[in-house]
Amino acid sequence: MEFFEVVKKRRSIRLFLERRIPEEYTKKILEAAFYSPSSMNRRPWHFIVVEDRELIKRLSQTRGGLGFLENAPLAIAVCGDEEISESWVFDASIAAEHIQLAATALGLGACWGHVLDRAHNREKSAEEYVRELLGIPENIRILCIIGIGYPAEEKSEHKKWEVMKERIHFNRF
Ligand SMILES: Cc1cc2nc3c(=O)[nH]c(=O)nc-3n(C[C@H](O)[C@H](O)[C@H](O)COP(=O)(O)O)c2cc1C
Repeated sequence: MEFFEVVKKRRSIRLFLERRIPEEYTKKILEAAFYSPSSMNRRPWHFIVVEDRELIKRLSQTRGGLGFLENAPLAIAVCGDEEISESWVFDASIAAEHIQLAATALGLGACWGHVLDRAHNREKSAEEYVRELLGIPENIRILCIIGIGYPAEEKSEHKKWEVMKERIHFNRF
């Protein structure tokens, strides 16, 4: 798929078919993530690839906004090592978008489920919950979990007028 087609086709897909993702697709998606730019080329990313149904179900209980993960055949936790880079959030965010665009290019659907700075419940942060569930060490911070699968919903591309012309400034604000 041509780049601008991918960019326009990408929508947050939260409903997935019960169909496994071929291993080569998962590899391609991860490869795309590792081509992301990163601050000072520190490359602080870690990706936890989860296909285990029970684990994905428990990830879907991280917080309300991750409920859509329940029927996803693949979930990728996008993380960054804060000891490697203080810019890990920016670096991980770019990688998360590469993952979503790569999934779209492969005919899959994906959605970002946010973890960082969100609560699981009154006692526990969403990050702590995911950390315990996936055995992630303390220095590895968790930004989000991207749910991926064959789409079971269709969404049309954002309309042209969603390009917010009033937010584009030439030369001066
Ligand atoms: C930083 C960030 C956090 C997001 N968190 C969630 C989330 O927790 N749960 C969810 O269902 N969607 C989440 N989304 C997806 C947005 O809701 C979605 O991108 C937005 O509504 C625009 O729709 P589109 O992606 O189809 O263009 C998040 C997106 C971003 C960029």
